[in-house]
Amino acid sequence: MKYTYNELIDFAVEAGRKSYSPYSQFRVGAALLTASGNVFTGCNIENRSYSPTVCAERVAIFKAVSESESDIIALAVVGLDCDYPLPPCGVCRQVLSEFSKNAVVIMAGRDTSVFKTATISDLLPFDALDDLKV
Ligand code: THU
Repeated sequence: MKYTYNELIDFAVEAGRKSYSPYSQFRVGAALLTASGNVFTGCNIENRSYSPTVCAERVAIFKAVSESESDIIALAVVGLDCDYPLPPCGVCRQVLSEFSKNAVVIMAGRDTSVFKTATISDLLPFDALDDLKV
């Protein structure tokens, strides 16, 4: 990999500092690495109507895919205000699984020296795409 897990976590922290989260006060950053070696980042963006809120992971994924970079090999997510390594929500797992079965998800909280890893298949087993053979 062009970047280490720790470097991707650092990119995610930088992105999380741009979080727009006045309602939850819960800043999240994400950084993903594509097969071509590029990094795309995202932060969570909230809304006063609540439901339009988008997680950091999906912002990063949509930025990458909209630049024709959908081969995601690793995605780091950091909850800057979180006391434990933050796992992606179900919606973000679904979106990531659309583009990669093997992506490594790297999860961290405010103490970035402690992180967990899992593949998207671990986080979202029995995905319908397995049957559709897409
Ligand atoms: N959030 C993320 O950005 N990623 C996650 O993995 C969990 C939750 C955001 C959504 C919302 O802005 C805030 O964190 C509180 O749920």
